[in-house]
Amino acid sequence: MTAAPPPFAVISGSQVQRALHGREKQVVELVEATYRLHGAGHSVNPPSYFLRFPDRPSSRIIALPASLGGQVRVDGIKWISSFPENVAAGIPRASAVLILNDHDTGYPFACLESSIISATRTAASAALGADRLTQGRARPTRVGFVGTGLIARYIHTFLTGTGWSFDEIGVFDLAAGSAAGFSGHLERSGVAGRITVHDSVEELVRSSDLVVFATVASSPHVHDVSWFAHAPVVLHVSLRDLAPEVLLAATNVVDDVEHCLKVGTSPHLVEQLTGNRDFLDGTLDDVLTGRLTVAPDRPVVFSPFGLGVLDLAVGKYVYDEVVRAGDLQVVDDFFHDLSRHG
Ligand SMILES: NC(=O)c1ccc[n+]([C@@H]2O[C@H](COP(=O)([O-])OP(=O)(O)OC[C@H]3O[C@@H](n4cnc5c(N)ncnc54)[C@H](O)[C@@H]3O)[C@@H](O)[C@H]2O)c1
Repeated sequence: MTAAPPPFAVISGSQVQRALHGREKQVVELVEATYRLHGAGHSVNPPSYFLRFPDRPSSRIIALPASLGGQVRVDGIKWISSFPENVAAGIPRASAVLILNDHDTGYPFACLESSIISATRTAASAALGADRLTQGRARPTRVGFVGTGLIARYIHTFLTGTGWSFDEIGVFDLAAGSAAGFSGHLERSGVAGRITVHDSVEELVRSSDLVVFATVASSPHVHDVSWFAHAPVVLHVSLRDLAPEVLLAATNVVDDVEHCLKVGTSPHLVEQLTGNRDFLDGTLDDVLTGRLTVAPDRPVVFSPFGLGVLDLAVGKYVYDEVVRAGDLQVVDDFFHDLSRHG
């Protein structure tokens, strides 16, 4: 058998955005299919590796290697930086690349701008969670966003792009400029519903049936269980906002147990406090496959760690779209000196 290395392509952020624009429903279906593949064991998704810096303690770069089986059959790695101080300098906190590797030869065949892919798969996962975790209860008409940066914007886009509409949209951010920027975006996008900038997280939580946490909080700042007495569904995307007592009074759903119970996430804090995992009710895949039904009279907290397999699935979707559109930009001679003995 002779195999030729695949061509190596570079896919820019504008190509990624074009490939994903208006595809919210397809991407949510893709993310659901990927969770199901992962749940059925057709993936390899080792722990993420966190590179931290003593001289820049608030920053990190995370490596997410993964392998996806099923029909997709692709391997790869996302390498994503989080530099929160970037925001004050006027550029996004997160930046990333995704490398896709060929299933048969292992050769990398594409490098994709991946902050958009990452935000997209995160938002698609949140929208899927919102849909499935609200089954069996009145469909929320009041949504609230705590932390209103880029991820909040993508989640809102994915909620509306998959059929949600809200009578009330609550907004809270520690930075008034972020709250104003997000509200301005909502107004410009022409959403129906009243937009309210709240003065406190408490006010927002109490007046929302669907609550999205997308802050950069590094430790819990929400402790009061009584704020959740009306049993909202909480998309805890930023993972570290809620104190253990809030989780202990809720139904807890994660994307992957081993991933989520690490690196000081709120579920990890609960495990450290209680010494066990009894507080976990299951994974989103358990909900998708009907193994778990969530009670309508208890708050639900979905804590998605964010899986590399989702980046691979969305990245491969983008790659295929770019190929289909005839826009693939290949780097000629990227792999060179291919004759073993010269
Ligand atoms: N779980 C996942 O799969 C996943 C994937 C991507 C991003 N994330 C997380 O989503 C979060 C948001 O990312 P982003 O790119 O939108 O960041 P961003 O910096 O653009 O926005 C974060 C916002 O949160 C605000 N904030 C910080 N602390 C707050 C608090 N205590 N209360 C209210 N607001 C607060 C900041 O002022 C800022 O406006 C990050 O924590 C990131 O790690 C999670």
